[in-house]
Amino acid sequence: MTQIEILPKTEMKMPNVFLHPPHLPLIAPSILAADFAKLGAEAADVQRCGADLLHIDIMDGHFVPNLTMGPDIVLALARSGGLMQDVHLMVSNPDEHFEAFAKAGAKHLTFHIEVRHDESALDMIKRIHDLGCTAGVCLNPATPVEALGRSMGEADLILVMSVVPGFTGQAFMPEVLEKVKFLRQELGAHQRLEIDGGIGIRTAHQALEAGADVLVAGAAVFRNPERAQTIKLLRGDYPK
Ligand code: DX5
Ligand code: ZN
Repeated sequence: MTQIEILPKTEMKMPNVFLHPPHLPLIAPSILAADFAKLGAEAADVQRCGADLLHIDIMDGHFVPNLTMGPDIVLALARSGGLMQDVHLMVSNPDEHFEAFAKAGAKHLTFHIEVRHDESALDMIKRIHDLGCTAGVCLNPATPVEALGRSMGEADLILVMSVVPGFTGQAFMPEVLEKVKFLRQELGAHQRLEIDGGIGIRTAHQALEAGADVLVAGAAVFRNPERAQTIKLLRGDYPK
């Protein structure tokens, strides 16, 4: 059995911005596009540049082809302080890892509805809530909203993928905007609607118009020297 490192309670007091958003939309740069040789500095830089969250892409080489990070990275980033982490679990067995990520300091966990597991999505949401985190449910581009079933009413956040997950820097798939429009009508005002993949200034505008209120952006923020200006523009803060 692997050792789970635990973030001290004093370091776990950070408010959950999905429950108490200071404004909308929220901008969540994806650390997957950062320079991995200086993760702490990269996280601090996007916070200084106005980001609301840090999106953490966890990939297992099975549910998606790529391999990325685990709870130790979440723990290290939580210890370095700063932004709340929005943990996106692209793994085949997410429920086996919920506890480790929560103990590492994650305040929010999103799993994919496409994973086949004995536990229902409703049970997985309950387990995440019992760990003191908000719960998100994610839909791949090819997955219809009907797949959400009753989890649509219980999740704190629905994440619509606008690329096939696996890698940063892919092209936005505009056909998912219909799902975003539909979901915005169905979700309550307290439920967040996030979009992830290929978000840049132009596609952010389309996603916001369709009703998304949390934008993930990897390459557009981290591979750009004008990060503060880009985050403003993604938010829809255009110069008058
Ligand atoms: C895709 C990941 C995304 C990705 C976004 O598999 O879930 O979060 O890092 O990167 P960009 O914004 O570059 O498409
Ligand atoms: Zn993601």
